[in-house]
Amino acid sequence: MKEQLELILKQGLEEISSASCKDELESARIKYLGKKGELTAVLKMMGKLDASERPAMGQLANEVRAALENAIESASVKLAEAALIQQLKDEALDVTIPGKAAIVGHKHPMYVALDELKEIFIGMGFTILDGPEIELATNNFDRLNAEEGHPSRDWSDTFYFDEDSRVMLRSQTSPMQVRAMDTMELPIRILAPGRVYRKDEVDATHSPMFHQVEGMVIDKNITMADLKGTLNTVVEQLYGKGTKTRFRPHHFPFTEPSCEMDVQCHKCGGVGCPTCKGEGWIELLGAGMIHPRVLEMAGIDTNVYSGWAFGIGLERMAMRRFKIADLRLIFENDVRFLEQF
Ligand code: DAH
Repeated sequence: MKEQLELILKQGLEEISSASCKDELESARIKYLGKKGELTAVLKMMGKLDASERPAMGQLANEVRAALENAIESASVKLAEAALIQQLKDEALDVTIPGKAAIVGHKHPMYVALDELKEIFIGMGFTILDGPEIELATNNFDRLNAEEGHPSRDWSDTFYFDEDSRVMLRSQTSPMQVRAMDTMELPIRILAPGRVYRKDEVDATHSPMFHQVEGMVIDKNITMADLKGTLNTVVEQLYGKGTKTRFRPHHFPFTEPSCEMDVQCHKCGGVGCPTCKGEGWIELLGAGMIHPRVLEMAGIDTNVYSGWAFGIGLERMAMRRFKIADLRLIFENDVRFLEQF
């Protein structure tokens, strides 16, 4: 039995010291000290010993147990330390490695143009208004005096959601005029930028989605002179003092009279060049005095109030501002293009 105990001690200590992780150490403990372990098995045979041998063997067995337990205890402390060191190593952060430069984005050129425009109008006391892109035909057409049968209501021009052509993707920001009249107190001064949708094929100057900016003023004694004065001021702030404008008669269902405003070509000063296609003028926006019928449909007393409105194509404005030749570049979000601004 003495040899057996000594063998258990020797093998046990070896196994404990060679355990490379907590699990291996635990299985060594079970193997030697567990209920069905080797030391336990030897102890069970103690009864068969001669009474004279028992005390010495009992003591030896206890010493073996204590030695194994101590060895396990210190091995477990060592393993824990090693695990911690390894963890610290794995998670170590080398603060001397050069950092990666963060790529900082910037405003899209179209939003640069829009923000400039907003700034100017906010300075004149206008409120910026946001509205839904899914709109009722009531607001997009009926309330803007574009009756059934008006060409812009055609299925080939407009994205409708229903058979009855009542719900649609707005084809202009002009329904924001109606929404403002319905919800705001008079007088009203609003600027309403946003996306609009039309069934156009994509090419250098067309996209089924583009942006417009709607402007509207309703107050007492508002005349065409206010419209021209305001727009001239805006144009001078955008393109520089002394920039000339030209108002041409036009037709829109919701304004009377209606006009289009051109800006004298900033490139050639009006002589004619490729930028203005030889015209000397560049078309910038549609505008006019709000049709009395539109005001009346909103319950506004036309004996007291009048107003003007305009609509600008935002992409076109940005393309001119940044000399961008193709509309598609604005939407493709190619970083090589965007980085230039
Ligand atoms: N909504 C018009 C369009 O999409 C643009 C426009 C013209 C808006 C005249 C106006 C306006 O407010 O008065 O072509």
